[in-house]
Amino acid sequence: MCGIVGIVGRKNCIKEIISGLYALEYRGYDSSGLALIKNNKFEFSKNIGKISNLEKGVKKNKLSGNIVIAHTRWATHGRPSINNSHPFIKQNCALVHNGIIENYEDLIKYHSINKKNLKSDTDSEVIAEIYNKLLNHFNNPIEAIKSLNKKILGSFSFAFLVLGTKSIYVSRRGSPLVLGLGDDFNSVSSDALGLPDNTKEIIYLEENDIAQINESTISVFDHNSKSIKRERHKFIPKKGFKIKGNYKHFMEKEIFHQPISIEDTILNFADKKRKTVYLPKTNIKFNDFSNIILIACGTAYHSCMVAKYWLEAMTNLNVSIDIASEYRYRKSKISKRSLGVVVSQSGETMDTLKCLKKFKQKKIPTISIVNVLNSSISRLSDFILPTLAGPEIGVASTKAFTSQLSVLALFVLNIQQENGAINKLYFNSIFKIHDSINKILKKNDDYKKIAQTLADTKSIFYIGRGVMYPIALEGALKLKEITYKHCEGYAAGELKHGPLALIEKNIPVIVLAPSDENFLKLLSNIQEVKARGGRIIMITDKDGAKKAKKFCDHIIIIPKTNFFTSPIIYSLPIQLIAYYLAIFIGTDVDQPRNLAKSVTVE
Ligand code: F6R
Repeated sequence: MCGIVGIVGRKNCIKEIISGLYALEYRGYDSSGLALIKNNKFEFSKNIGKISNLEKGVKKNKLSGNIVIAHTRWATHGRPSINNSHPFIKQNCALVHNGIIENYEDLIKYHSINKKNLKSDTDSEVIAEIYNKLLNHFNNPIEAIKSLNKKILGSFSFAFLVLGTKSIYVSRRGSPLVLGLGDDFNSVSSDALGLPDNTKEIIYLEENDIAQINESTISVFDHNSKSIKRERHKFIPKKGFKIKGNYKHFMEKEIFHQPISIEDTILNFADKKRKTVYLPKTNIKFNDFSNIILIACGTAYHSCMVAKYWLEAMTNLNVSIDIASEYRYRKSKISKRSLGVVVSQSGETMDTLKCLKKFKQKKIPTISIVNVLNSSISRLSDFILPTLAGPEIGVASTKAFTSQLSVLALFVLNIQQENGAINKLYFNSIFKIHDSINKILKKNDDYKKIAQTLADTKSIFYIGRGVMYPIALEGALKLKEITYKHCEGYAAGELKHGPLALIEKNIPVIVLAPSDENFLKLLSNIQEVKARGGRIIMITDKDGAKKAKKFCDHIIIIPKTNFFTSPIIYSLPIQLIAYYLAIFIGTDVDQPRNLAKSVTVE
């Protein structure tokens, strides 16, 4: 989604600004732009498409400056176009904005804004108009922001340039902003990854904070424009995250990084020799709860679905799960003996964040399972279980998903441990995931061959039972995200209740089939598909292959798994199939159309 970068320094900082924009590319965007103050005048450049287009424009116009704000836009109000891209420049101010202004139409009326002055279809330009008026009225940029923020419904992070000053003015509500302090510059970004590499310290702005960034000082104010202090943290640049190495795409790199990312995550919380799970210390006592509510969006929600199967089978807890965009608005009863768990790679997903706030209002303890530490979700929750996947750049989540599953697996074992009975078989098996995954990755050609057979089909289905049902959903999500092909995931037993009508000659059905207690039932389901001409592609282990060979058109054999490890291990084949199919089709794997990495709008 949209990204903000701004720098005030002693020297020309265009290079650092462009590099910051590239670092935010992974979030997904469709246009970009920057503005700077030179000789007390604004200069700017905007373009649609890739940041390289903006870079060319900046070079062509020889733009240079030391007070610069920049933006990557992911269209919400108005299509991707130069007019709709940021910054918006008015008489005395330039603005970049992340988030959504819900009451922008009311604001147009209330402030009698002449619609002829609005050159875009965006909610953001309305804010630039109003701020410009407020600047004239207050003659003080901070007071003008304070007044502006009081008028707004919705979420925002703003960065303004104001003529007559040598500062960037920023504020936030519901959308993150981080300030970077350097030796001869200070900066701002919507994501720490967007800050210059030589940043020394960072400050995470809190809700409703306002800040003034100068070359050598940063001042932070609360919503009443009272000066406040915010904690400074050491900045650790995420070296290597921008480099693809020998890989063609970040997604490929991230898929192949999973033996390490899963192992890092597991070893962080479990001691193999002592057969003990060590979650970070907390005063949360799992025995105090009767219910667990797990909330997330998209891929992260699929990890919650898997956790529900595990928790129900392995603990006495009642488990409810929901997608955040629904749960937020549901009038569900939340008992005092509930534990609220949210799962998020980015830690910024707006709907998930709002559910966390709902839990807080109900005063139940909260845990977040997040990949980006210091994200809004991690900072708001009572307790954090980090997934150690490292920065995930590809828009389609891969390694973050398997790390979420790994943390959730340990979370379940930890509850068992507290209850005095950890499942030793499952505990031991999590240390073998690494080898199984390496074996799958070594045989990646198997998935290339399967992907090739899918290139000309109009529809594809994934089916599975039990813990393979969420993985079937995840397989379908991954495939449609990066190949734009129609793909559905179903619980295999559900086919006959409707979807079977879509099965015709040669429609591929990918069956996720570990040889477990569901296997025979699954065989019946594939016969139903076969009888209607469907093409069966089965992913199974040796035992499963023996039993199912005669019903399948293609079989890929992977290592034996169990109820606990199969969701993690079967995630690899579904990711590889989606990835190689996207390569055959030639789509933009790392930045698929219409999608964003960090979904900060509702
Ligand atoms: C799919 C994908 C999305 C995210 C979802 C939640 O590949 O990445 O479905 O899982 O947008 O994002 P986070 O985990 O950042 O809250």
